[in-house]
Amino acid sequence: MITLGVLVSGGGTNLQAILDAIAAGRLDAKVAVVVSNVASAGGLARARAAGVPALTIDHRAFPDRAAFDAAVVAALREHGVDVVVLAGFMRVVTATLLDAFPMRVVNIHPALLPAFPGIHGPRQALAYGVKVAGCTVHFVDAGTDTGPVIAQAAVPVRDDDDEGRLAARILEQEHALLPRVLQWMSEGRVRVVPPDAPGDRARVTVEEDRGT
Ligand code: GRF
Repeated sequence: MITLGVLVSGGGTNLQAILDAIAAGRLDAKVAVVVSNVASAGGLARARAAGVPALTIDHRAFPDRAAFDAAVVAALREHGVDVVVLAGFMRVVTATLLDAFPMRVVNIHPALLPAFPGIHGPRQALAYGVKVAGCTVHFVDAGTDTGPVIAQAAVPVRDDDDEGRLAARILEQEHALLPRVLQWMSEGRVRVVPPDAPGDRARVTVEEDRGT
């Protein structure tokens, strides 16, 4: 069992996928709190509907990103959070959050990183003309969508795709991949392998299912 804190800014369909996986017994976790920087975020309504504490912490009320992150950390700590999940969260997090939850902050990104970081991943993929797109769950580091990759899922790009159709196909995979990764973390199967040499990247391995 792991205790999750989920940060959202938008509709919260990835949060819903987590809540549904827990309800279905596919994810041994508890969502202790949902925090959004946007009061109108659909994710907050989804949290309330599931009886999960839903907080708005408006980033505009803080002098800088570190102060905002400190308020978020306080809320997460108050709810006993082990793992922080950025699920459609549109703020860049700072060392204040990352140092409070070292290698315990994960993000879902709608592209096969390192391709197409930042916003509008599906739009970038279409514009580039790639034939395979997808999504990535990764540990968050100080960069933007640059942390160690935990898992990815691929989808075909069709000739008649527009951004909406491709984004929907990717989102469907996000909803399957994120709860699966969180379950691996709940089972203690996710390992971060330190870089072999300075300048190399840390890598992530997932132990085989021990079938226990
Ligand atoms: C998703 O594509 C996610 O990858 C991106 O934001 C989109 C909306 O997520 N970060 P959600 O529906 O708010 O979970």
